Amino acid sequence: MEQFESFYITTPIYYVNDKPHIGHAYTSLICDVAARFMKLAGKNVKFTTGTDEHGQKIEKAAKTKGIEPKEFTDEISVTFRKLAELMNFDYDDFIRTTEERHEKAVIALWNRLEERGQIYLDSYSGWYSVRDEAFYQESELIYGRAPTGAEVQWIKEESYFFRLSSWQNKLLELYENQPNFIFPESRKNEVVSFVKSGLTDLSISRTSFNWGIKVPENDKHVIYVWIDALTNYLTSIGFPNIEDEEYKKFWTNSFNIHVIGKDILRFHAVYWPAILLAADLPLPKQIAVHGWWLNEGEKISKSLGNVIDPINLAEEFGVDQLRYFLLREASFGQDGNFSKKNMISRINSELANNIGNLVQRTISFLHKQCFGVVPVVDRNLLKDDESLQNCKAIIDQVMDHLSNQLFQSQQK
Ligand code: ME8
Ligand code: MG
Repeated sequence: MEQFESFYITTPIYYVNDKPHIGHAYTSLICDVAARFMKLAGKNVKFTTGTDEHGQKIEKAAKTKGIEPKEFTDEISVTFRKLAELMNFDYDDFIRTTEERHEKAVIALWNRLEERGQIYLDSYSGWYSVRDEAFYQESELIYGRAPTGAEVQWIKEESYFFRLSSWQNKLLELYENQPNFIFPESRKNEVVSFVKSGLTDLSISRTSFNWGIKVPENDKHVIYVWIDALTNYLTSIGFPNIEDEEYKKFWTNSFNIHVIGKDILRFHAVYWPAILLAADLPLPKQIAVHGWWLNEGEKISKSLGNVIDPINLAEEFGVDQLRYFLLREASFGQDGNFSKKNMISRINSELANNIGNLVQRTISFLHKQCFGVVPVVDRNLLKDDESLQNCKAIIDQVMDHLSNQLFQSQQK
C-alpha cells in the first residue's frame, strides 16, 4: 500500500429486493474505516457504495409488491442511503445501476469484449437460481437445490456467452503471481481449486424477462445482472473515459480493493478478473473477503425471522458503539456471532472503561497541565524521547494492520 498515492475501496452494491441488515452495515463499515484512515494518512481516497437494481430477482420482488420495478428500486435504494447516513459512512459516490452513466459503462464494457472476440451467441440450458442470480452445474446441486440452499429452475434459452473457459490458465497465473489478490488465503485456495476443476463459458444474457440493460443491437436480450453489477466499480471512476485523470488515478495507478462477503467470492475472484483481462483493462489489487454474521449462532435469514436491523441497534446502543462492536467482535475473514450480551459487555468493559477512561484521563490532564491546548512538540525532544518515538511507530503499525485487514485490536 505505501507505494501508492491513491486508495480506492468499494463495497458490493446491494440488492434492493429487501431493506438493509447488519451484514450490509458491516461491509460498508470496514470500507469506511479503511477509507478514513487512508485519508488521515494523506492518500487520495475514493470510497464507493451503491445499489444493484436490475435482474429477475428485483423484477420479481417489485411484482410481489404490485409496483413497477423503477418505483420499487427508488424506494428501497433510499433505505441503503439512509443506513449509510445513520452509520456515519463517509462515502464519495453512491452508484445505482439504473443510472444513465452506469448503463453507458456497461454497454462500453460489453462492446470492448465483443470487439475482442470474447462474446458469442448460442443457447443455454441449465440450472439457474433467481435468489442467487447464479447459474449452477448439475454436479453442484445438493438435493436439487443450489449449494446456498436456494431454489433452482431449469432454463433453456438463447444466450450470449463470455469465453470464460479460455481464461483459466491466465487466472491461475494471476493467483500465483499476486499472492494477495484474494485475501485471506483460505478463500484463495477455494478459488484456485474451483478454477483448476475447469471453467465453462459463462452465459451473460437472458431473454425471459425485461428488467435490465439491453444487449447492444439485440434488444431481445438483457445483460446478465452480474456483468451489469460488477461494472459499477468502473462506473464511479468515469469508465469508459480511460484517458481521464479520475480513471488513471483510481484504477490504473491506485491501490484499488473490493471488499465483499464470502457469498459472492466466485463473481469477484473469477468472473470479474477474467472479464477485465478479456477487455484488456487493469485488475484491482485485491479482493478482500470477510466472513458471515450469525445471530446467536444461527444463520440470519428472513424465513427464520432473525434478521438484525442495524438501525434499531444504532438507536438502542449508539452509532459509535455499534461500529466499535462490529469491528471488534469478528476477525476479518472469520464468521462473527452477534449476541446482545457480548455487545453490551464489550461496550461497557472495553469502550467505556478502557478507551473511554484513557480519553477522559488524557483530556483532564491536558486541561489541568496545558490549559486545554495540545502543546507544540519540540522536535529535539522527539529525537531522544523513547515514548514519543513509540507513538510515531504506532502510526506505521496501524497502516500496516489496516493494509492487511487487521481491524481488531492485537491485544488479547
Ligand atoms: O450479493 N454477514 O447483494 P446483497 C456478513 N448485489 N455480510 C453480509 C451478510 C451476513 N450475514 N449478509 C449480507 C449482492 N452481507 C450483489 C452484489 S456487487 C458487484 C453485487 C453483505 O444485497 C456482504 O458484503 O446480497 C455480502 O457480500 C453482501 O452483503 C451481499 O449483498
Ligand atoms: Mg445476497
